[in-house]
Amino acid sequence: MSIKPLIILPDPVLRQVSKPVERVDAPLLRLVDDMLETMYDAPGIGLAAIQVGEPLRLLVVDLAKEDEPKAPHVFINPEILETADARSVYEEGCLSIPDYYAEVERPAAVRVKYIDREGRQQEIMAEGLMATCLQHEIDHLNGVLFIDHISKLKRDMVVKKFKKLAREKAPSRLVG
Ligand code: NI
Repeated sequence: MSIKPLIILPDPVLRQVSKPVERVDAPLLRLVDDMLETMYDAPGIGLAAIQVGEPLRLLVVDLAKEDEPKAPHVFINPEILETADARSVYEEGCLSIPDYYAEVERPAAVRVKYIDREGRQQEIMAEGLMATCLQHEIDHLNGVLFIDHISKLKRDMVVKKFKKLAREKAPSRLVG
């Protein structure tokens, strides 16, 4: 297992639409383990493959609190089948947009089908934080970021800030 570098805003990779996973094999499971390690290291509660530069429809989620045992969930080719009419608001953040948080309103519950790490078809009725997290991560698979759900004014400010940070970092990057 290894920790992978995270793709950070405004990298255009984050806007790619990810492709379905064709088979659950050893290389894919290695990627899953790397993603889990990367997410725990960050630390975060969810990570999409595109955030480590792999344009595959694959997510890992772990909502366990620090003092609770790890509870990793792997979602391969997740698809939202149904969304509740009720909405809920959570303050969201993203490992690809470090240290920025904003309230986002989304459907309060979603029914999602997916393939698990054993290659079995599964379905989950997610509510609360899991519903928000799954929608946030599935957005990543479609090149959508949580800042796309906030006001244009706020989004423009964040993008501008991260573009500036990327420019400041660029000259010190080693080429070789
Ligand atoms: Ni994110």
